[in-house]
Amino acid sequence: MTNPTRKSILLLLLLVFLGACSGGLAENESPVDPAQLAIGKRVYESNCATCHGAQGEGQPDWKYPVNGVYPAPPHNSKGHTWHHPDAQLLEIIAKGGGLPNSAMPAYADILTPDEVVAVLDYIKTFWGRQEREFQAQVTRQRSGE
Ligand code: HEC
Repeated sequence: MTNPTRKSILLLLLLVFLGACSGGLAENESPVDPAQLAIGKRVYESNCATCHGAQGEGQPDWKYPVNGVYPAPPHNSKGHTWHHPDAQLLEIIAKGGGLPNSAMPAYADILTPDEVVAVLDYIKTFWGRQEREFQAQVTRQRSGE
């Protein structure tokens, strides 16, 4: 093998390696198994979409309480769900909202723990790549990795 060929093979390998490191995911593409996402979508659409919106858009004027009760916040990139680590989001879904008079129901008796994880995986498909990467990092920091 001549030297230039070897060099270009090495360069190609390097590019493939770098591509693998960046995850190679398109905007909004989920690294999660499609079967898991299908479960999450079903759970979301039958339990959460009425309040949080079919695409996670939330209720109008969600930052302003009506008679002391906050409307449902968005789960898309415009909300703040992606600011929080997995553990906190899973706990809110299982135990209900933390605000006084929260309209957010507790799902621990309605969904299985696997369904709670699946619905969170589905919510993550509403985020762009930046939000997803930020939230993955917050989750790693919180779990002490
Ligand atoms: C009856 C309306 C309603 C339904 C149904 C509902 N939520 Fe909520 N949810 C809320 C409200 C209101 C809040 C904000 C108040 C709070 O956190 O106490 C909230 C907050 C949340 C949060 C925290 C968001 C954040 O940015 O911190 C998560 C996560 C969440 N909901 C997930 C779900 C999931 C998953 C479902 C379905 C399994 C669901 N919700 C169903 C009303 C609802």
